[in-house]
Amino acid sequence: MRLTVIGTGYLGATHAACMAELGHEVLGVDVDPDKIAALRSGRVPFYEPGLQELLARHTASGRLRFTTSYEEAAAFARVHFSCVGTPQSQGSDAADLTYVDAVIDALAPHLTEPSLVIGKSTVPVGTADRLAARLAELAPSGADAELAWNPEFLREGFAVRDTLRPDRLVFGVRSPGAEALLREVYAPVIVGGTPVITADFPTAELVKTAANAFLATKISFINAMAEVCEATGADVSVLATAIGHDERIGARFLRAGVGFGGGCLPKDIRAFAARAQELGTGHSLAFLREVDAVNLRRRDRVTELVRELCGGTPAGVRIAVLGAAFKPDSDDIRDSPALDIAVRLHEDGADVTVYDPQAMDNARKKHPLLGYALSATEAMADADVVLHLTEWEEFRSLDPAALAAVVGHPRIVDGRGALDADRWVAAGWDFHALGRPARVRTGASGCAG
Ligand code: UGA
Repeated sequence: MRLTVIGTGYLGATHAACMAELGHEVLGVDVDPDKIAALRSGRVPFYEPGLQELLARHTASGRLRFTTSYEEAAAFARVHFSCVGTPQSQGSDAADLTYVDAVIDALAPHLTEPSLVIGKSTVPVGTADRLAARLAELAPSGADAELAWNPEFLREGFAVRDTLRPDRLVFGVRSPGAEALLREVYAPVIVGGTPVITADFPTAELVKTAANAFLATKISFINAMAEVCEATGADVSVLATAIGHDERIGARFLRAGVGFGGGCLPKDIRAFAARAQELGTGHSLAFLREVDAVNLRRRDRVTELVRELCGGTPAGVRIAVLGAAFKPDSDDIRDSPALDIAVRLHEDGADVTVYDPQAMDNARKKHPLLGYALSATEAMADADVVLHLTEWEEFRSLDPAALAAVVGHPRIVDGRGALDADRWVAAGWDFHALGRPARVRTGASGCAG
């Protein structure tokens, strides 16, 4: 099939390349000429494992092309995916729908033939109804320009796999024709066994926000348990393993630490709560405010811990921060807990040096005043405290014995519960982790000692 993918950020660029991989002729559309130039030359402007190869392969074969022209997009295909972002609005918790609206406004006037526009963005419930009306109003083909809603569940770091082999497909449709077209687009995925759930617009929109709200709640649940563990001397990692064996609970997304960040979960739970408020059912999602608060408190806990370890103030303390991306296998620093903590400590006078395997350029651009190192070892040189804040595989395989000789004080805070405490302790380190008892050498000195 011929189809377009409008918006070429994390979601759109991945979707476009994966649709080409499924065998479609794809035209990617974006208003940003720099992004389009990069993609045209087969270069992904962000880090996502496996995407570079896919993009290069399909731009070379000609099956995947890019343009900045909506006119060209409308002439190219009758099926159009809208993959633009819905960031948090300036000054409120609600989602900013400027880009989602702009796609309909720019594309619809060119739709002279019957067409299907498929929204993939995470939007407040009720948006699809509104967009469908606007599409039919602005398109020369009128009601033959139809909308469908097909929310996306991909995770950064696994975006290609999640798109080619999703665990479910949700089709929000208003006609059998729209469903048939979606089934045709995803035919190879459906043949591979992925279940399809068809729904009305509000249900399809809500599936996405409910899924992200549930995931955020699960993480904040275990982080709330970490707070209780800290007050009682219990160990949250043992607790998580034990409750995770109950299949009704499940072990995944129960990793306590500095919490969730990124371009999705934080803004999605805020927008969801804000939308519920507008709908007069704010009480139903009031708990999401607490989910957000627990999440942000974990960042406070790390800065407090640094203070406790360093005699009350981080001023002048040398801190190595391992990790800048909001999660491993990504260079995305949006709402990154690691960088938020690094910036706060820097503002409190600490001498902070950050290292991340992929997110250095993005971090440096956004926070030029922080120190940056070219490797974990360089970041840790003479450090008084090491903070492990994004669980890259590279950090798990560090050699604690060799690094003990590099730092000023062998003292690490594992903010992701991902390091092997026994190895670090055996190599002479003081080991602190959120929600777990500290393992400290007897007679260990403070930062100044
Ligand atoms: C999330 C959802 O998982 C995807 O299903 C969804 O499609 C996507 O948002 C979206 O709305 O676009 P993503 O933001 O890529 O995906 O990242 P996650 O893997 O969900 O991780 C989110 C954050 O939670 C990260 O900062 C991660 O470090 C943190 N996390 C995750 C924990 O703190 N503990 C855990 O046990 C798991």
